[in-house]
Amino acid sequence: MEIGIPKEIKNNESRVGMTPAGVLELTHRGHTVFVQSGAGLGSGFPDEEYKKVGARILDTIGQVYSMSEMIVKVKEPIKEEYGMVQKGQVIFTYFHFASSERLTQAMIDSRAVCLAYETVEDEDGSLPLLTPMSEVAGRMAIQQGAKYLEKPVKGRGVLLGGVPGVPPGRVLVLGAGTVGIQAAKMAAGLGAHVTILDVNMKRLRYVNDVMPSHVVTEFSSEYNIRKHVRSHDLIVGGVLLKGGKAPKLITRDMLKTMRPGTVIVDVAVDQGGCVETTRPTTHENPTYLIDDVVHYCVANMPGAVPYTSTMALTNVTLPYVLSLADKGWERACREDASLQKGLNIVKGEIVYEELLEAFGPLKAATA
Ligand SMILES: NC(=O)c1ccc[n+]([C@@H]2O[C@H](COP(=O)([O-])OP(=O)(O)OC[C@H]3O[C@@H](n4cnc5c(N)ncnc54)[C@H](O)[C@@H]3O)[C@@H](O)[C@H]2O)c1
Repeated sequence: MEIGIPKEIKNNESRVGMTPAGVLELTHRGHTVFVQSGAGLGSGFPDEEYKKVGARILDTIGQVYSMSEMIVKVKEPIKEEYGMVQKGQVIFTYFHFASSERLTQAMIDSRAVCLAYETVEDEDGSLPLLTPMSEVAGRMAIQQGAKYLEKPVKGRGVLLGGVPGVPPGRVLVLGAGTVGIQAAKMAAGLGAHVTILDVNMKRLRYVNDVMPSHVVTEFSSEYNIRKHVRSHDLIVGGVLLKGGKAPKLITRDMLKTMRPGTVIVDVAVDQGGCVETTRPTTHENPTYLIDDVVHYCVANMPGAVPYTSTMALTNVTLPYVLSLADKGWERACREDASLQKGLNIVKGEIVYEELLEAFGPLKAATA
């Protein structure tokens, strides 16, 4: 199969859909891989590295799209790419269709086969191609939170680990899922006192079993949240209601009860955020203040660490890419129920139920 790796052109996106390691696996199996010149640079992979493992470097994104049977990338195609997508071409990437009718319509019109990373789903309901990005964001939440607790950037001026004779900082983690557990682990590693809340007792039992004793679990309730926001320095929002908007666990009035310089990192911002005062920010301008509380609400946190994020993402996408390349999308999906769930739009038709519910059966613009 001919597989294309375009350079991401979405603002501030430096990840790439495939590393040289992935290209090597494909070329070993007799596939052809086209890589757009410079596609891997932001993640630390120059063209030379791709060439060494047999990739063919193409100058333009248009060439990559027009010469490939399958495109493997990171973010959804943006407006400039809509017209490049070919009829019958397989596009394997994050789409998040439900958040954009325009993108959905454009992909219907293209008559491509759209396989979305975020809806590939294992038997137990877990989302294997989303997990690594949550792992990155959860760990980053503490790194960023620690930074914004510093006084020159309007934080409380607290060192999370404390020092001998001075107690450590206090971190409140909302949600004990992938983001929450990774955040708690990092904070605990720094020596901070951690309180982690969830409504799922199974998750809390697990955290209680595996974490050190300075990570304390509590049931998530409004009462407990009101109590804790007053005494914690850093709050990490990592809740998720599958398929829905995040619940607003921290309300506007609670901000007034927090100490000035408290930092909120609302990782759940991509689902609307779990803090009433959350609005999405970017890596260029990541924070804002409301009632002297620092809000960090970057919707694509992993984009700031493209080297790690690209490796984490491609580690999990590669087995699916190999299967798609070896078998073709129809057989690969037929033989793998998890991958089958990734199918969202096939040749002009929505085939993913939640997407049909969101937009109804949109029709292709031209016959
Ligand atoms: N900003 C970013 O760059 C970025 C990156 C990755 C993930 N995310 C987002 O982070 C969020 C969390 O992702 P995840 O992978 O950890 O999800 P997850 O499903 O693994 O965990 C979510 C947890 O929230 C818990 N929860 C639900 N309602 C709750 C409540 N009322 N109180 C406390 N806990 C509650 C669930 O029981 C679950 O354990 C998602 O919205 C995800 O999209 C954002």
